[in-house]
Order: sequence, then C-alpha cells, then structure tokens
Amino acid sequence: LYSVGQVLELRMHLAEKARKKWINPRRVDGEDCQIIAITNFKGGSSKTATTIHLGHWLALRGYRVLAVDMDPQASLTSLQGALPGFDYREGDTLYSAIRFDDPVPTEKIVHQTHIIGFDVICAGLELTEFETAVTLEMRKSGGTSFLLRVSQALEQIVDRYDIVLLDCAPSLNFLTLSSLTAATGVLIPVPAHMLDVDSTGKFLELAASYMQILDEAGAGARWDFAKFLITKFEANDHPQANMQALMRQVFGEDLLL
Ligand SMILES: Nc1ncnc2c1ncn2[C@@H]1O[C@H](COP(=O)(O)OP(=O)(O)OP(=O)(O)O)[C@@H](O)[C@H]1O
Ligand SMILES: [Mg+2]
Repeated sequence: LYSVGQVLELRMHLAEKARKKWINPRRVDGEDCQIIAITNFKGGSSKTATTIHLGHWLALRGYRVLAVDMDPQASLTSLQGALPGFDYREGDTLYSAIRFDDPVPTEKIVHQTHIIGFDVICAGLELTEFETAVTLEMRKSGGTSFLLRVSQALEQIVDRYDIVLLDCAPSLNFLTLSSLTAATGVLIPVPAHMLDVDSTGKFLELAASYMQILDEAGAGARWDFAKFLITKFEANDHPQANMQALMRQVFGEDLLL
C-alpha cells in the first residue's frame, strides 16, 4: 500500500525522470489557475458535498487544490475535523483577508488538511460582517470595488494552485457576488426535484440581472463555463428521472450528471 504523499511523489518522479508528462496534471506556464464557484441559493443542494468530493478527487489525481469556505455556516470547515493551528475565534477565516480595514495576507489563513494537495481557507460567523462592511464602504466611497475583494485575496496565492473551489453560501449576497466575479467557471448543483429546479430558475434570473448591472458598471464576471450538476439523484425515482430528462432538454450539454 502507498500513502497519498507517496503516490504524489511517484507521479512527480515518473513525470520528470520517465518523461511521462501526462502523469503530472499540474498546470504549466501560460495556463491559468481555474477558480470554480459552486453556487445556488437553494439550501441543501449539495454545494458543500460537491466542493469537498470534487476537491478530494482532484487532489488525489495530483492537482493542487484550494477550497474556500464562503459560507458563515462553515460546513466545509467543520467537515475538515480538527485542523492543526486553526481557531475560528482568532479571526482565522476568509473575512480577515477580504475586510476593508487592515486585511491580513491570504497565505496566513490557508490551512493544510489531512489530504495532501487539498488546502482550505475556513469560514466562521464573522463572514457575515462582510455584508455590513460593504454597505458602509459603499456609503463612503460608492462604486463596486467590493466585488474585487475575493479576487484580490486569491490573487496573492493562486500561483500555488491549479484549481480553487469556492463553496458559496445559499444566498446571493455581496460575498457570493464577489465570488462570482472572481470565478473563471461556475458549477450549479441542483437536485432533480421540481421545487429545487424552480428555485434555481429564480436564482439564475436574479443572478443574471445583478451581473448585467455589474457588467454595465465595468465589473462584469468572465466565466469560461457555467454548468449544472444534478445532485442526490436516484434513478429509480420516476419524478426525478422525468425531471432529469426535462433538464437535459433545457440545458443540453451544460448539464452534468
Ligand atoms: N449525493 C448525495 N447523496 C446523499 N446525500 C447527500 C448528497 N450530497 C449531499 N448530501 C447530504 O445533503 C445535505 C446537504 O448537503 P450540503 O451541505 O452539501 O448542501 P449545501 O448546498 O452545501 O447546503 P447549504 O445550502 O446549507 O450550504 C447533507 O446532509 C449532505 O450529507
Ligand atoms: Mg454548504
């Protein structure tokens, strides 16, 4: 048996010494880090589960992954168990790097997890302070500079990663808008249930109108892709299977299963 660390070492060794470049999936010069926002304002649609499973899967294949918990409920953070050196009471969450006054360097809030290649930035209730801080900042200086807070924080550390996953909160608040601005791609998890799909439609409508306003203000998002992902799917459940067929008709290739 090999540990994950040993598999990674073998991967790098073979890529370099045996000229098997394909075995090392890390990006090369000229390729950008992909920042994927996992978002939907429907609660419980598997945003956090998708982030963590996708992140682990990518890390086990040799990618350098950073998962950022953007949700004050901090489920992604809790799922890490006890992280060495992490104490949410000490302001050790994303908020410290995106606040307007005296932000800390982002590298200070990155934590290694028990899976090599899978790092996290944690969340806590203090992330809700961003909403008030943005309102105050807008009153002071106006504009849409708050949208850049997440990308400015990530810019400092993206060289070290191939993929950054943003686990958004179930709401379309300022933090989510800032995450959508930082993202290079968007993944929308949605269970194949009538009410979930209906709610996702409303989310998209609202997101589209916000994004249009922001685009007009010169702060538009630039995504390479936006995909829907059916979650919690049970093929034996007829209503779900029907809903899946309907979603396939509507979203075509943009629907992932
Ligand atoms: N594929 C799955 N099969 C069964 N249960 C699942 C699956 N994915 C997620 N769950 C369960 O559904 C619940 C909600 O999942 P999760 O926390 O990932 O959703 P979320 O969209 O992040 O929720 P929130 O909106 O509160 O952030 C959890 O109890 C999780 O274990
Ligand atoms: Mg969640």
